[in-house]
Amino acid sequence: MPLNQNLVRQLVPSRAFEWHSSLDSTMRIAAERALAGAETGFFVGADEQTAGQGRLGRSWHSEPDTGLYFSIILRPAVPALTLALGLAAVEAIRVITHIDCDLRWPNDVLVGDRKVAGILTQVHGGAAVAGIGINVNQQQFPPDLASIATSLRLISGHDHPREALLIALLDDIDMHVDILTRQGHGAIFDLYTHASTYVSGRRVTVDLPEGPVTGTTAGLTEAGYLRLRRDDGREVIIVAGGVRPCS
Ligand code: BTN
Repeated sequence: MPLNQNLVRQLVPSRAFEWHSSLDSTMRIAAERALAGAETGFFVGADEQTAGQGRLGRSWHSEPDTGLYFSIILRPAVPALTLALGLAAVEAIRVITHIDCDLRWPNDVLVGDRKVAGILTQVHGGAAVAGIGINVNQQQFPPDLASIATSLRLISGHDHPREALLIALLDDIDMHVDILTRQGHGAIFDLYTHASTYVSGRRVTVDLPEGPVTGTTAGLTEAGYLRLRRDDGREVIIVAGGVRPCS
């Protein structure tokens, strides 16, 4: 079923947004709106994306009417925002579904070792455009994703209302942006360190441009990057890139 836009408008009357039945990607329209000066908190959502974008040039599987796909315009466009959004997603999922998620740096939302949500942050016209995709009611995934993705429905065994999840998430985004603005990025890094099992003491492999590196995670830097202690004792700072459990 398509998202009940009227219900969302009734429950968050002060929030400006547009909702489409189908788009190539909500990132494209939200970037246009950001360049045109759209207000902070404005979002663009769709029931289906035909060319959903993921991080690192990947695509985002966007089955119609099952997942939550939207891009929100936020200011300030600071690096810590992406970690703040991961925290917001974990909190909204917990409140609405009672499912506890983990965060794999920087912002993969996981249940066990499977991805249930992802966040893609871009900067357009000085504003952050943050795209959030949550696998809500999917009953299956294509073969290439079946072993690495899951949905809230597959975990709990029943459907979850996308409207309630969206409204909770908007609230949690506002709350975490507020923490970032008032208390600074250190407060977000502290919350993130507590919420993620990946920040410290985790054996991982990271795909860097020069090849994969394996080691043990050793906390966040002051800028929110991930410290990795390589097996030869040297420390590498991971600025971006695919972190995966060590096989
Ligand atoms: C990731 O690779 O983990 C990030 C996935 C981000 C997907 C969302 S869905 C809504 C928005 N529109 C897109 O095309 N991508 C983001």
